Amino acid sequence: MTVLGLARVWALVFSAGWGWAAAQSPEIPQVGSPERGKALLLQRQDSGCVLCHQVQGLPAGGALGPSLVGLPERSTKDQARERIADARRFNPQTIMPAYFSTEGFNNVASAYKGQTILTAQSLEDILSYLFMPASATP
Ligand code: HEC
Repeated sequence: MTVLGLARVWALVFSAGWGWAAAQSPEIPQVGSPERGKALLLQRQDSGCVLCHQVQGLPAGGALGPSLVGLPERSTKDQARERIADARRFNPQTIMPAYFSTEGFNNVASAYKGQTILTAQSLEDILSYLFMPASATP
């Protein structure tokens, strides 16, 4: 087989692989898991939530943003989802990162281009923790 022939075979194998990967990651998330949500909220590097917020049941959080304790009493889950996805929709000057948006970022490293900070599933997991009754926190 020629070099070109080999390259074609590999191209086929890879494109088939990517098609499969896309089919395996549908954008429709499953019901959120509060345990996973708690772990995500605590991750200082990936989510960073506790750098700016206090969250019920978690060790002392930051104070750059409002405390999220009692959030379910003043916000619906849908409202909170929109805020976390892209807080700029409500406050263009916000310091809170837009966790589920790929728009309006500058100087994104090429490895991260087109990717959101949180996946749709991670966002649901975080919401399920934030909106669970205080007595039931894992
Ligand atoms: C750099 C600081 C910062 C980080 C990190 C951050 N936030 Fe925020 N957040 C804020 C600020 C400031 C506000 C106040 C509203 C605004 O600025 O638009 C806010 C508002 C909110 C609100 C609305 C609160 C309310 O009282 O209605 C929610 C919910 C929220 N953040 C969740 C999160 C979650 C979940 C994460 C992590 C995935 C996160 N935030 C990460 C700064 C931050």
